[in-house]
Amino acid sequence: MAAMQEIWVWLSYVAASVTFIVGLKMLSHPETARRGNLIAAAGMTLAILVTLFLYRSPDGQLLGNRGWIFAGIAVGTAIGWVAAKRVKMTAMPQMVSLFNGMGGACAAVISLMEYPHHDFAPGSWNLAAVIIAGLLIGGTSFSGSMIAFGKLNGNIGDRRFSGQVMLNLIMLVLVLALGAYLTFQQSPNMPLLLLLTAMTLLYGVLFVMPIGGADMPVVISLLNSFTGVAAACGGFIYNNQVMLTGGILVGSAGTILTILMCRAMNRSLLNVLVGHFGSSSPSAGAAGEHGAVKEISVSDAAVLLSYSRKVMVVPGYGLAVAQAQHTIHELEKLLEEKGVEVSYAIHPVAGRMPGHMNVLLAEADVPYNKLLEMEQANNEFGTADAVIVVGANDVVNPAAKTDASSPIYGMPILDVSLAKNVIVMKRSMSAGYAGIENALFYDPKTRMLFGDAKSTLQKLIAEVAAN
Ligand code: TAP
Repeated sequence: MAAMQEIWVWLSYVAASVTFIVGLKMLSHPETARRGNLIAAAGMTLAILVTLFLYRSPDGQLLGNRGWIFAGIAVGTAIGWVAAKRVKMTAMPQMVSLFNGMGGACAAVISLMEYPHHDFAPGSWNLAAVIIAGLLIGGTSFSGSMIAFGKLNGNIGDRRFSGQVMLNLIMLVLVLALGAYLTFQQSPNMPLLLLLTAMTLLYGVLFVMPIGGADMPVVISLLNSFTGVAAACGGFIYNNQVMLTGGILVGSAGTILTILMCRAMNRSLLNVLVGHFGSSSPSAGAAGEHGAVKEISVSDAAVLLSYSRKVMVVPGYGLAVAQAQHTIHELEKLLEEKGVEVSYAIHPVAGRMPGHMNVLLAEADVPYNKLLEMEQANNEFGTADAVIVVGANDVVNPAAKTDASSPIYGMPILDVSLAKNVIVMKRSMSAGYAGIENALFYDPKTRMLFGDAKSTLQKLIAEVAAN
């Protein structure tokens, strides 16, 4: 009976692991992402239920404390459900950071609980090493994620002082040295373990504190990979394959995402961690440095768009802030009814999280084949009669190509000025994420249409319909 149960547990873990891999793969496309998420969640539910009801410890015992476990799951599910329902799309990175921090905390708590129980025999240092690694990585991820949350939420500013990099380095060496010392102990030493926990939490704070608030999405992705690795340590500790697979998948996906984000911004990870990009002290040039901007009225913009053959839309962070995804889709449909070809140019780091624009536009049911990737879009701008830049700034800033002193220098951009006309929709002349002036706004081809993206688009729709 017990042997049969063990086989069922093993088969369920394999099935759950497969759902994680399939789900993750499906997350890479907006059309399948939702289903992929549900499939992976179903796999996770299966793994949890099987562990609760069929898993037996090496001494043949089923899991105890089920009442407490279900109560914990119920409370966590309720909080997670409400938070996920209420969160605004623009606050998504904070939310991810918070949830990620909880994962790190769980991994660290597992290590804290298991440390005194492991076999302290001379040959068993490798299990101790995994336990300590789970504590260090999970703890850093927890406190670092909390600081990242605070920064993105505007509760914590960027704090730096000279020698901070050196202090962090010293702290890291101390944490690793104490971790190594505890790994090779022949008996439990709880006071030192608690000291290590406190130092780890402090290190997480010091690690994230000096990084510019603007770089938080990259940091969150990095911390996400830390949490994955810490969870994988838990999988080793319990010899639990599904936990191991899940942790490894999160760890590798987070690492790949971090690399891709850095690449799309043309920055190294080291530059993100110590480079102070996009700090709270914007280096925007003096207003008017490039001459005067030209404005366009809603009715002139409507005429221009209605009589265009081809219009390309560049969505950015402001589209998300204004929640104008449905409105831009309405304008797109209206223009297409008038025989105008409309497509969307998607920059890989437009918005504040990976795939931000794809998710927003998918929410509004914009057909996926209308979304052009950066390279393809840059090949097509030359044939467009008009480009509408909706709440985008850095991703269309020519300084990335022309100004070697600019913090975004080298970042690939959408070359909108190749089009015949450019209309930029934003509320003011304020800078974007990188805090820098944008010469595109002063380009002879560019005309500014000031106002909140959603209300401006609504007025534009009314005018286009009347044309
Ligand atoms: P930004 O450069 O941040 O510019 C957004 C613009 O939207 C602002 O200039 C703002 O100007 C405007 N805006 C805000 N609210 C608006 C509203 N309600 N209506 C109309 N306009 C509004 O955005 P972007 O071009 O999408 O670039 C993204 C930036 O984020 C890049 O620098 C990128 O490196 C960085 N980043 C992205 C990611 C990911 S993964 N997406 C991760 C890390 C960093 P006004 O205030 O004048 O309206």
